[in-house]
Amino acid sequence: MQQLSLFYDVKSKKVPIRNQFSHNRVCAEDARIALEERYTLLFEETDKFNRQLVSFQANKTEVLHSWMKYREGFSANLVELLLKELGIESGDNILDPFSGSATTLLVAKMLGVDAVGIELLPHCHLAWEAKSKAFDYDVNELRYIRSLIEQTIPPEADRKFPHLTITETAFPPEVEKDLMAYTQWFETLDISQNAKTLCRLILMSLLEDVSYTRKDGQYLRWDSRAEKIRSNNAKRLAQGKKAIKGIHKGDLPHLKEVLLEKLNRIIIDVTKLQRDRLSPSHQKLIAGNTLYTLPTLPENSFSAVITSPPYANRYDYTRTYALELAYLGVKEEIFNLRQSQLSCTVENKSKASELETFYRSIGQHQRFQQILAVAQKNRALAEINNALTIRDKRGEVNNRGILTMIDQYFTELTFVFAELYRICRQGAGIVFVNDNVRYAGEVIPVDTLSTNLAEQVGFTPYKIYVLPQRKGNSSQQMGKFGREALRKSITVWRKL
Ligand SMILES: C[S@@+](CC[C@H](N)C(=O)[O-])C[C@H]1O[C@@H](n2cnc3c(N)ncnc32)[C@H](O)[C@@H]1O
Repeated sequence: MQQLSLFYDVKSKKVPIRNQFSHNRVCAEDARIALEERYTLLFEETDKFNRQLVSFQANKTEVLHSWMKYREGFSANLVELLLKELGIESGDNILDPFSGSATTLLVAKMLGVDAVGIELLPHCHLAWEAKSKAFDYDVNELRYIRSLIEQTIPPEADRKFPHLTITETAFPPEVEKDLMAYTQWFETLDISQNAKTLCRLILMSLLEDVSYTRKDGQYLRWDSRAEKIRSNNAKRLAQGKKAIKGIHKGDLPHLKEVLLEKLNRIIIDVTKLQRDRLSPSHQKLIAGNTLYTLPTLPENSFSAVITSPPYANRYDYTRTYALELAYLGVKEEIFNLRQSQLSCTVENKSKASELETFYRSIGQHQRFQQILAVAQKNRALAEINNALTIRDKRGEVNNRGILTMIDQYFTELTFVFAELYRICRQGAGIVFVNDNVRYAGEVIPVDTLSTNLAEQVGFTPYKIYVLPQRKGNSSQQMGKFGREALRKSITVWRKL
């Protein structure tokens, strides 16, 4: 790995530091201000990174990356840019411990860089399985499947959509029948296993489009035509309550139409991708929980980490992606998947005793205690925990789960950072993309606090890139506490 180059460019701007974290200065904020001052020199606003690049937005039209929409993802261009700036080249081995739709792994594959990803959710595993084969698909076979779809009405399936309670009635009945007909039909076709996997991904990626739902960060929003909403509203009206206003998605597309559209797009992408010869490299996605996987990886293995953990914003991936998880046959395991997520929802229970048992089982109990102590002794985290407790006593926290969520979020991240430090090579660059948040008038500087925790487990803070701000761009905590612009940052640390 080469030296990490500086991202400085002529258009870089200094970032004004924040001097208030507690609305009306109700709670102590010295520790958060101290972090702001400690890392002042690391802050930089650069036009190299914009919101489009840092979000999935730029992936929507990208070859390969657009096959499954993952709103929480970052763009392939961002990963390319970061790999270049970090001096990563063929022969290096990089890691994304929150791999999501596998953007990092796929970019690594295209650049001939070895990579490992870790991800909990099964729909992301399928996305990786299907997208990573892009260079192996037989385009003639894909064309053959296209012609079969054009010419065939698949027979009615003998099994039903495997709904979870929260997904019941998400599709118009005839669409649901079609979905299962195509699902079963693809399974019985005389085509390769790779092509079957791809067909499954395509169907899964179309679920939202043909459903009465729309993903909206924290929730699935429902169209008022869905049976679930209609019967609920009928009950409400009978009780003299107001009906709940659902969304209206307009005419839903026909499954066959969108299926062909997507397959066409994929055929074009695959044809393009297969024109170039890839340098041989190896990528692997580990299906599992990062908190228990990282401690099992050998030390000094990675030259860089590029990742974006779930943000501390209460968004529940297992709800947003309930249709996809249900389609893949996830049942009761959904509760486990929800609890195993890095604590970013108010429902997450503490993983402390489970983690302790795990570290003990691998003969690392002392290490567990040391890492836990880093989080527990962090002044800014203690200040935030206190501030939220005070806000709660004042009746300003709308859900008590926020208190535990924030404490657990940073405690779990400390374990991630400590393990990353152990498994990274000397000189490695570590990049985390994350958003600051605010609850009950308390700003939680995720970027400086994460940097501080990372520093306390051994990393050297290097940069905090701040995305250009749109004034008051946060919808969080409007109302009582007013509008507040919160930073979206890319933090860079190094193992020296
Ligand atoms: C912000 S997304 C990452 C998106 C990714 N950068 C991309 O481009 O698709 C965070 C991911 O972390 C995963 N995740 C959350 N907690 C996890 C855990 N404990 N272990 C493994 N993955 C986890 C989530 O399922 C989600 O896919």
